[in-house]
Amino acid sequence: MDGTNSSVVSEFVLLGLSSSQELQLFFFVVFSMLYGMIILGNLLIIITVTSDARLHSPMYFLLGNLSFIDICQSSFATPKMIADFLNEHKTISFNGCIAQIFFIHLFTGGEMVLLVSMAYDRYVAICKPLHYVTIMNQQVCTTLVLASWAVGFVHTLSQLSFTVNLPFCGPNVVDSFFCDLPRMTKLACLDSYTIEILIVVNSGILSLSTFFLLSISYIVILVTVQYKSSAAMAKAFSTLSAHIMVVTLFFGPCIFIYVWPFTTYPVDKVLAIFYTIFTPILNPIIYTLRNKDMKAAMRKLVTRKLKSKKISEISLITRPSLY
Ligand SMILES: *[C@@H]1O[C@H](CO)[C@@H](O)[C@H](O)[C@H]1NC(C)=O
Repeated sequence: MDGTNSSVVSEFVLLGLSSSQELQLFFFVVFSMLYGMIILGNLLIIITVTSDARLHSPMYFLLGNLSFIDICQSSFATPKMIADFLNEHKTISFNGCIAQIFFIHLFTGGEMVLLVSMAYDRYVAICKPLHYVTIMNQQVCTTLVLASWAVGFVHTLSQLSFTVNLPFCGPNVVDSFFCDLPRMTKLACLDSYTIEILIVVNSGILSLSTFFLLSISYIVILVTVQYKSSAAMAKAFSTLSAHIMVVTLFFGPCIFIYVWPFTTYPVDKVLAIFYTIFTPILNPIIYTLRNKDMKAAMRKLVTRKLKSKKISEISLITRPSLY
């Protein structure tokens, strides 16, 4: 490579999810609705969790932050994908592509660590209930959130350091709806074998180790509650099944795509939908429909809003306080 003029590709062509005109129109409608639900649902969680004093506990603090990451996670590629359903020619600039790679690894890395933090929180609550308040204090919660972002950041910088200098000079067609690292390395015009190994090792260490920690914590929790009452078992199981569902839907596709990236399967882009669309939507569904504290808080929030609206309609001069 002569270095100076090796990167001649200035934009990439995305093939999107489908090439059929009717199917794209259908996807446009469905994904627009799903995206709207993701944003509204997760915003509702954040607002409820921050405004209701009874939900100021570590579990909801972490949940609110998970909702925030979910919004980010679903927003780095989905809006462009939705707009692209209506575009005949779907392109993305080289820098746009690098930005997508940066964000996907930042958010997925962060989300993985945050899921571990949430499992740890449940572990302390269920297995060490008497020390819960001292162990999961405000400072620890904040540290866990900051650590998630820090790990995501280090992870994405290391992934990018393998990628930004790759020369792209030939084909520029990406068979997906966003720029995804395993597919990009395949387009580089040099033998990317070593880089692929580095990417696998990097993603593999993060996803497998967090998955391992999650599994261990769930097993320990289940073994611990086994010796308690069957009511405790049932409660723990209902909380855990929600966690396990999120974790499986999130880690399954990530591990599948990134731990075997040497061969990219057509199914990879469908799997990518799981962590960009399905896990972000699961959170609001699981935590709003199944959690009665959350439901009560939301009901209160809505009635309070309605009431304050009525009052402000009656007298425009006295501003009713929210509390
Ligand atoms: C998320 O974490 C940050 C920093 O630790 C905190 O200030 C914020 O209140 C959290 N968000 C929610 C919705 O709980």
